[in-house]
Amino acid sequence: MKQALLMSSVAAFALLLSGCQQNAPEGEEATIDTPSKQTTYSASNPDRILSNDELNAHADEARAAAMQLGQELKAELIAAMEAGGPMAAISVCAEMAPAIASRISDETGMEVGRTSLKTRNSANAPDAWEVESMERFLTSSANGYSLTDIERFYALEEEGETVFRFMKPIVMQEMCVMCHGDAVSDDVMEAVRAAYPQDQATGFAPGDLRGAFTVTKTLDLN
Ligand code: HEC
Repeated sequence: MKQALLMSSVAAFALLLSGCQQNAPEGEEATIDTPSKQTTYSASNPDRILSNDELNAHADEARAAAMQLGQELKAELIAAMEAGGPMAAISVCAEMAPAIASRISDETGMEVGRTSLKTRNSANAPDAWEVESMERFLTSSANGYSLTDIERFYALEEEGETVFRFMKPIVMQEMCVMCHGDAVSDDVMEAVRAAYPQDQATGFAPGDLRGAFTVTKTLDLN
């Protein structure tokens, strides 16, 4: 029964979110239109309802952690490219990306990372909820919404716990093309394949959905 209640509230929340948690297409005023009746229940205590304000506060924290990861990675990438070009930057990405993500996760108490529908590092492979979220981002983008304005967040019941999940698109930029584009040079490609034999993360153009930040946090709602 508890399960049924949670599922129905999550389903309602899903509908509200998919309809409203997006900014207007370019040209219209960009405001996040947050519905006021989103609630969900604690997995361990059915009397404890998570309010819309609480969900938004968790989203604010998750968004800040995702932005921090994005900014730190970009700074490292630019520094490495300036110091040693793309070949040096590959090893920096390979070592720094997981290290920075794990430090920010420790600092914030949330699991903060990156994923993609086409990963370079298979350790970043998405789970079902992440795949679904990125597919929705693609649909929204095809419908005229800007990827930079979209995000998706929920409280979900997972294995008897209430888990907050947040995702935000990572958009391809010009500087990413040399390692993720459709004409990656032979030496870069060789170095990538040596480190990531299962690499799928090429063929992207600026503006494409490259992947997404993903943040997970178990909520203590007793
Ligand atoms: C110098 C080469 C290089 C450049 C430039 C580069 N990347 Fe990457 N990218 C990598 C490597 C190597 C990894 C694997 C890192 C890891 O192990 O997590 C990676 C991983 C990723 C991932 C994690 C998901 C996955 O596929 O494993 C995303 C998302 C990503 N890059 C986006 C970008 C974006 C956006 C840019 C431009 C701002 C960019 N990258 C520029 C080399 C590069």
